[in-house]
Amino acid sequence: MTTNEQAFDRARAILPGGVNSPVRAFGSVGGAPRSYVSATGPYVTDIEGREYVDLVSSWGPAILGHAHPDVIRAVQDAASRGLGFGASTPGETELAELVRDRVGSRLLGKLRLVSTGTEATMTAIRLARGATGRDLLVKFAGHYHGHSDGLLAEAGSGLATLAIPGSAGVPAAVAAQTVVIGYNDLDAVRELFAERGNDIAAVIVEAAAANMGVVPPDAGFNAELTRIAHENGALVILDEVLTGFRVSPSGWWGLDDSYMPDLVTYGKVIGGGLPLAALGGRTEIMDLLAPLGPVYQAGTLSGNPVAVAAGLATLRAADATTYAHLDATAATISAAASAALAAEGVEHTVQHAGNLFSIFFSPTAPRTYAQVKEQQAFRYPPFFHAMLDVGVSLPPSVFEAWFVSAAHDDAAVTRILDALPAAARAAGSATPSA
Ligand SMILES: Cc1ncc(COP(=O)(O)O)c(C=O)c1O
Repeated sequence: MTTNEQAFDRARAILPGGVNSPVRAFGSVGGAPRSYVSATGPYVTDIEGREYVDLVSSWGPAILGHAHPDVIRAVQDAASRGLGFGASTPGETELAELVRDRVGSRLLGKLRLVSTGTEATMTAIRLARGATGRDLLVKFAGHYHGHSDGLLAEAGSGLATLAIPGSAGVPAAVAAQTVVIGYNDLDAVRELFAERGNDIAAVIVEAAAANMGVVPPDAGFNAELTRIAHENGALVILDEVLTGFRVSPSGWWGLDDSYMPDLVTYGKVIGGGLPLAALGGRTEIMDLLAPLGPVYQAGTLSGNPVAVAAGLATLRAADATTYAHLDATAATISAAASAALAAEGVEHTVQHAGNLFSIFFSPTAPRTYAQVKEQQAFRYPPFFHAMLDVGVSLPPSVFEAWFVSAAHDDAAVTRILDALPAAARAAGSATPSA
């Protein structure tokens, strides 16, 4: 039998860090990452044949659980008709129409399908610059929008996990086109627009921040931000790559549509587990994209028919019952985690954005990245490993959200709840040097 350690050693000899995406390397929790060979429903199985209840859910896409029969059937059918044509297909139009029906044509006049969330945000920014004739981009500290050059300053996700402020290899001239300000800080927004309002092409904001742990926007934050941006002729790009079709049938904006962003980005759930993402927005802005307009974007695999089939099957199956189950399951697990930590006297808070949640080892709920970083993060690795040892796979970083799925049934949830008291004890006895 190949062990996880052996699989990781072999991977490290050929893949930098043994991985193809940094957080997978277990850098902040230690130990050898599990090497998974299969997944079904709420479970993943590693190379040693051990099964885990999965609370990563492929970092979001597996909203129905792994290998949902409808999705697998749709993928098999599509694959049997050809893996890709580099040309138009009826499915891509159907998916775009389905997304517009779910979100509403008030927000989504038109969409373009791409392959990753990184591409979606990168293209949205180019489009905003093309539409406004301005260069400057505003982002918030702790927000993650993928790994394109201009977006890696003070970003969340892997950069938060690895505690690096930005990436090497980003030209200074590119970095200078992004201004980073504090999240949930409208005074900072007002000040920046007062100083540089005429230079700002767009503000990009996670619809609800979930890449520094889950930090929802303060009530009215997204709306006031949008108002200020529009007052200054700047666009708002609402990044729903993580929240879209997860926190409600139409995403975070579907829970509060009192404001109108100009462009929206989607990823993860929209591709049902295969590489697919999208950007959309008002028709007059979207029509600036080539071939109609002067803003260029293209992709050999854009709108790939197999990925489109997975996305269509996933969105069609994710109905009101699915979202009710996700919300109830997230509430049960987060309440149990909180109770277990409280029983051990571990200072913590749990924050939610719909059914997304995460634990912070701090006594008060953080509203900013600076506050997030103040928590006692050293308590997470022992908590994480205590769960993993008894077959529960949590995100391998305190800065990531926990993802439930429609397949998390009573048996899976019971396994999680049973594991929590010992994990809370491990967190309670952790020391900063441990
Ligand atoms: C909010 C947000 N935007 C963009 C991205 C980038 O998406 P991808 O990893 O598909 O490039 C992510 C990925 O986690 C994300 O959470």
